[in-house]
Amino acid sequence: MPTQSTSPHLPFGENKNADWYGKDILSVKQFSRDDLEYVFGVAHEMRGMVERVGTFDLLKGKILANLFYEPSTRTSSSFTAAMERLGGSVIPISEVKYSSVSKGESLPDTIRTLECYADVIVLRHPETGSAAIAAKAAKKPVINAGDGVGEHPTQALLDTFTIMEEIGRLDNLTVTMLGDLKYGRTVHSLARLLSTFTNIKLNYVSPDILKMPKEVMEEVGAKNIPQAEFASLEKILPETDVLYVTRVQKERFEDPADYEKVKGAYVIDPEIMKAAKKDMIVMHPLPRVGEISTDFDDDPRAAYFRQMEYGLYVRMALLALVLGKA
Ligand code: NCD
Repeated sequence: MPTQSTSPHLPFGENKNADWYGKDILSVKQFSRDDLEYVFGVAHEMRGMVERVGTFDLLKGKILANLFYEPSTRTSSSFTAAMERLGGSVIPISEVKYSSVSKGESLPDTIRTLECYADVIVLRHPETGSAAIAAKAAKKPVINAGDGVGEHPTQALLDTFTIMEEIGRLDNLTVTMLGDLKYGRTVHSLARLLSTFTNIKLNYVSPDILKMPKEVMEEVGAKNIPQAEFASLEKILPETDVLYVTRVQKERFEDPADYEKVKGAYVIDPEIMKAAKKDMIVMHPLPRVGEISTDFDDDPRAAYFRQMEYGLYVRMALLALVLGKA
């Protein structure tokens, strides 16, 4: 794990995990515990390098195509920052309406085009499975930056890295996920990824219509991870080490009336948080739309802004990994 790194120069220049060279990152299911420890070790080194020198030339001359068919602030800009801090450059395509997509170009053709110009492609797309379709079309690595309600693997990697850096362990944890567990792709990836660790307990708190999908619960259950579902947070907040809050995903509802019923179902505020441990953390992939009161922001347990910064280091690590430089 990060703090056990044996050399300040590790792992740059080492080809230890050349397994990842040229590979796509589509799902957290690709990551073993060893892989995670390796990625976090690299991310930790990236953090040190950014703090010491800001920008360096590990990926000089490499080009990233950042292709976003859905809105994004953090994921898109942190991939851009990650590439540029490593000395590489970026082709940003976030207004697909100004690209040939609006002329009816298919995703595979757009991907084939971009890989002529770039070394790696980051893709966010509204359809589940789109990243896999893109990866099939591409020879260059494709990184899934969110495929509809499917997965958001780089977010889950940065989420677990956040837990590691903030709490110092990934085993022996009670993690409570709250909010829209049905449409929230971040929690689908995070629950799967946490099931790689030992003595993890997962609590799911959601309105009845926004429960964690059965498929995810079955996969996690197959790893013997205890999971429990709740309608309210009260009972389990005191035992929680990590409270992972999510936004109700308005854009994914088929019936807007359903959204109206569940929006604002939970609001975390300083009063509620009196019942929580002193050394726990509150995370959120952001954006928030009212589910965490801004009154809580100054509490040391509010880790969601720090979490964004950890995302930069993890994405730097992932880019270095798939481009063969870590
Ligand atoms: C999340 C996403 O896009 O799934 N945002 C992010 O990447 N940080 C969460 C969300 O949109 O609610």
